[in-house]
Amino acid sequence: MPKEAWGSRLGLILAMAGNAVGLGNFLRFPVQAVQNGGGAFIIPYLICFLLMGIPLLLIEWSSGRFGGKFNNHSTPYIMDGMGKAKIWKYVGVFGIFTNIAVVAYYTYIESWSLVYVLHAVFGTFEGMSQSDVATFFTSYVDIFTTSTGIPFEAVFFYILVLALNIFILSKGLGGIEKVAKIGMPLLILFGVILAVRGLTLGESGKSELFPDANAWDGLNFLWTPQFDSLSNPKVWLAAAGQIFFTLSVGMGTIQCYAAYIKANEDIALNAVSAGFMNEFVEVVLGSSIVIPIAAGYLGLDWVLENAGFGMAFQTMPFLFQQWGEVAAAFSGVLWFGLLFFAGITSSLAMGTPWMGFMKDEFGWGKKRGAWSFGALALIMGLPTVLLYQYGVFDEYDYWAGTVSLVVFALLEAVLFSWVFGINKGWNEINEGSDIKIPQAYKFIIKYITPLLLLMVFLSALITPYQ
Ligand code: PFF
Repeated sequence: MPKEAWGSRLGLILAMAGNAVGLGNFLRFPVQAVQNGGGAFIIPYLICFLLMGIPLLLIEWSSGRFGGKFNNHSTPYIMDGMGKAKIWKYVGVFGIFTNIAVVAYYTYIESWSLVYVLHAVFGTFEGMSQSDVATFFTSYVDIFTTSTGIPFEAVFFYILVLALNIFILSKGLGGIEKVAKIGMPLLILFGVILAVRGLTLGESGKSELFPDANAWDGLNFLWTPQFDSLSNPKVWLAAAGQIFFTLSVGMGTIQCYAAYIKANEDIALNAVSAGFMNEFVEVVLGSSIVIPIAAGYLGLDWVLENAGFGMAFQTMPFLFQQWGEVAAAFSGVLWFGLLFFAGITSSLAMGTPWMGFMKDEFGWGKKRGAWSFGALALIMGLPTVLLYQYGVFDEYDYWAGTVSLVVFALLEAVLFSWVFGINKGWNEINEGSDIKIPQAYKFIIKYITPLLLLMVFLSALITPYQ
């Protein structure tokens, strides 16, 4: 049987960019930025991108392609092959758990997006007040508002979205590539339309209810650099956590995609392109939709007080109503459709580490791998679905979506530079490369990245979780 590989370079880049561009870009980034001081957040964020994000991308892409040469397609096998000690296999397994824990709550949000596309089409929010729209969401997720204690609609759509993921994953790389080729261009198109609308709200879009609000206040808040909180470890932890989450590093997911890259094909340019594409979507589009639109109608103070990712579902449908019925339906489809595409191209990626492991360890095929992945995600996910209002969701996001990424990233950086060896590693990065990565990065990858990761890890230990 010929070895499975990506169909084309474009398919690979879109799949990798789809992996990175996700709900994190549109929901997590703006909220993290607002909660951590706006312009104060951006500086650590960009530093973390250059000194940890890019190096980790290069490490993960090259480790994955290296593993693929030995027909290894999962982090336990790839890392074991680089470290030549069983402990690295367990580190890889730890990464797989992180993927399953993240996908569990991630697909739940994906299912909300799908449901909200339908509600936008059917005009459910027409004429609703701001608090009606907010209550609509809470009663969707709240077990106490249903007589049976089970939010059937939420559970149904959650399972539907999982089934869709399983179906696509069971088709292999071809399925993932196809979804990325359709989903990514649409996502960017939808994002650009909404961002342009957000930034041109001007006076004409204003509701009479909130005459003093200004969309640009939101952007200015996000982008005016402030230096006061740079000494706060919590801000650095949040910035590093966001960089890992948004680039999808620190979970071993990228390795599993990269393992299907042919031995002599470029990874350096691909890795950097996918990384920059993600940053464009996050920094430009991610900051130009929710925050400016909310600030434009409700004022910056409201945004500062209410920043939470519920804004996307509890507030946006109400704000879209200000544009009239047809535009509201249209914008709702764009916004929730964008979230859905962002979500699914990422959740598919999170399935591949488990599937690769089952293949490497037991020789399982795609179907079996995909179904077992879905079953695990369901088991892990039901607590977040059923106990949403107890904050279970935030717990998952903190432990799996932030802390675990830092731990795994630290371990893989040590493995790459100090166990596998930076010289071998640097050769792997440059083999078949279409660009010349500055030599400084060899030094950064060896010393700076692990050191910074260690600092972020230590600050995670001493920073109380709120
Ligand atoms: N990068 C994705 C986002 O920003 O939403 C989240 C993610 C996807 C993290 C895939 C990790 C992963 F393996």
